[in-house]
Amino acid sequence: MGCSLALTLVSFLICLFQFTPCASSVHPLCRSDERLALLLFKDSLSVNKEASADPFAYPKADGWKFQGVDCCYWDGIECDHNTGRVTALDLSSSCLYGSINSTSSLFRLVHLRKLNLADNDFNSSEIPSGLGNLLMLTYLNLSNSVFSGEIPLQISWLSRLTSLDLSNEVDLECPDFRSLIQNLTSLKHLHLSRVIVSSPLPSILVNLSSLSTLDLSHCGLLGELPTYIFQLPNIQFLDVSNNLHLTGTLPATFSILIHWNSWMLPLANSEDRCHRR
Ligand SMILES: *[C@@H]1O[C@H](CO)[C@@H](O)[C@H](O)[C@H]1NC(C)=O
Ligand SMILES: *[C@@H]1O[C@H](CO)[C@@H](O)[C@H](O)[C@H]1NC(C)=O
Ligand SMILES: *[C@@H]1O[C@H](CO)[C@@H](O)[C@H](O)[C@H]1NC(C)=O
Ligand SMILES: *[C@@H]1O[C@H](CO)[C@@H](O)[C@H](O)[C@H]1NC(C)=O
Ligand SMILES: *[C@@H]1O[C@H](CO)[C@@H](O)[C@H](O)[C@H]1NC(C)=O
Repeated sequence: MGCSLALTLVSFLICLFQFTPCASSVHPLCRSDERLALLLFKDSLSVNKEASADPFAYPKADGWKFQGVDCCYWDGIECDHNTGRVTALDLSSSCLYGSINSTSSLFRLVHLRKLNLADNDFNSSEIPSGLGNLLMLTYLNLSNSVFSGEIPLQISWLSRLTSLDLSNEVDLECPDFRSLIQNLTSLKHLHLSRVIVSSPLPSILVNLSSLSTLDLSHCGLLGELPTYIFQLPNIQFLDVSNNLHLTGTLPATFSILIHWNSWMLPLANSEDRCHRR
């Protein structure tokens, strides 16, 4: 006992004086420029209890000042264990209120792989085109956060995205759905519920072969629901409900969970035409 304690103490002292990482469990501190970027981002917004709908929401970023100098241990942050770079920022349901634009320090965090700002109130500002800088993103969730205007095409640069959720925004428009998704060929989850798409579904959707969840409810879709949508090899959940001008045929053989306009349930009559005129 005493011996191993002494040994631990010795190796601790060696570490201390050599300033080297002592064990694989010790990872580098977060970088000061990234810590600063996080603090500036937090300070550019205010906290407002009304800004989040989740009953368990709390101002996560408020605790940062008590959580030490290493931002990797702050609430909502994850870092790369080898480099100390910030790779995930989850400030969903954090009562954040205010506008963000592309000059935000948020867009200096270029190693982010996961960004979740869902369920806050960004004061009807536009989704900042600066998101297009975050080329490592695989997960982006801005759902229910009071963005408005047009979805910037810079989102289409994020070709590593596997999950994109912009749903339930009040006045968000997607004027060019085809261009938005044409590069996003890794997407598994695409949630655009209530985003104003107002066009037919583009045939390029067939190239999103990893797609397993597609929520395009309340999107003002037009034209005919293309049948290839049922042939997407990994599709498991499809919600195209509440698109009053969408018509289409359900294939006789399909085993996916489909949320359609409730009037056409049950799905046993799957060969019925299901227009809504
Ligand atoms: C919210 O948006 C309005 C209108 O653009 C603006 O005047 C106001 O300063 C914004 N408030 C905050 C906190 O960003
Ligand atoms: C962007 O937002 C910052 C505050 O976060 C503000 O000082 C700046 O004027 C804004 N820039 C533009 C172009 O709106
Ligand atoms: C986005 O965040 C909201 C709120 O936290 C959550 O309910 C939703 O499932 C998330 N979407 C995805 C695709 O993870
Ligand atoms: C698609 O992605 C490639 C590389 O990721 C990029 O060079 C190109 O500009 C992107 N195109 C669009 C329309 O976003
Ligand atoms: C799907 O992708 C392939 C190769 O990337 C491309 O040649 C084809 O035109 C795309 N399909 C559609 C419908 O755009």
